[in-house]
Amino acid sequence: MSDLHVEGLVKRYGSHTALHGVDLEVGEGELVGLLGPNGAGKSTLTKIACGLVRATEGTVTVAGHPAGSRAARAAQGYLAELFRFPGWATADEVLVLHQQLTGSEKGAGERADLLGLVGLSDARERKVEEMSKGMQQRLGIAQALVGEPRLLLLDEPTSALDPAGRRTVRDLLVEVQGRGVAVMLNTHLLSEVELVCDRVVIIDHGAVVTSGRTAELVRPRGVEVETAAGRRVIEGAGRAEAPRIVAELVAAGEQVFGVQVLSSTLEDVYLDAVGERESTRSSG
Ligand SMILES: Nc1ncnc2c1ncn2[C@@H]1O[C@H](COP(=O)(O)OP(=O)(O)OP(=O)(O)O)[C@@H](O)[C@H]1O
Ligand SMILES: [Mg+2]
Repeated sequence: MSDLHVEGLVKRYGSHTALHGVDLEVGEGELVGLLGPNGAGKSTLTKIACGLVRATEGTVTVAGHPAGSRAARAAQGYLAELFRFPGWATADEVLVLHQQLTGSEKGAGERADLLGLVGLSDARERKVEEMSKGMQQRLGIAQALVGEPRLLLLDEPTSALDPAGRRTVRDLLVEVQGRGVAVMLNTHLLSEVELVCDRVVIIDHGAVVTSGRTAELVRPRGVEVETAAGRRVIEGAGRAEAPRIVAELVAAGEQVFGVQVLSSTLEDVYLDAVGERESTRSSG
């Protein structure tokens, strides 16, 4: 059973259609990156999965329960794109509040564990208004994990973080996944997704344009060799073929000055999928 199942999801805001029939799956314990340009519909999809926004058509279930139902909400944790905790509350108090909201009875032990997980053990008594944005964002992730959800829905959890903070969150996601929690990570940071996500779903204008396993999307593009005749790319070849290619060139009497295995980055895949290359070309 998947932790998040989305089928034929349509969302209309008045006359504007934000989602045009989206199918998406987050398997048990899977880490899925949801990518797409501004306005693509990522937050809308995430909010529907949380039960904060009503679907116009389609089916959305969390751990087998209809999105927004009590059972679905008990199975999920959510960090909104633009969240704000009360400035006067301490880190520990924010977690107490969310324990009360989720009905978690795990007490101080759970709070200490989560603050440790996000690197805020020393900030337990610090007020939110005295925290940096990065600390607040990490507290937001801790909050989403209160009550041991099976599915974590994170809407741009690293947008306010510096490179070190992003790395902390990346490591955290791997750790969370190790605990068996599935994650849908909504972000614009492609390198992040490339590093941690099992699978990637790219949406544009409310429809899925590409999806697949990260390792398959980010695949070899060929082997580039530099000989006296110049550089050329042997398309489709991978790392394993590099020694044979070089051996054949040498056997044919060519001098090889360099060899490089090329692979497409997630950025290449993304820009192809959302057609940014074309628009950049035509406008520039
Ligand atoms: N409450 C609303 N009422 C009307 N239109 C909305 C509402 N919320 C979102 N939209 C529209 O739906 C579309 C999808 O918005 P959404 O916020 O889901 O995009 P997104 O992919 O999260 O974008 P971003 O990367 O900027 O966060 C946009 O065209 C947006 O203007
Ligand atoms: Mg958004």
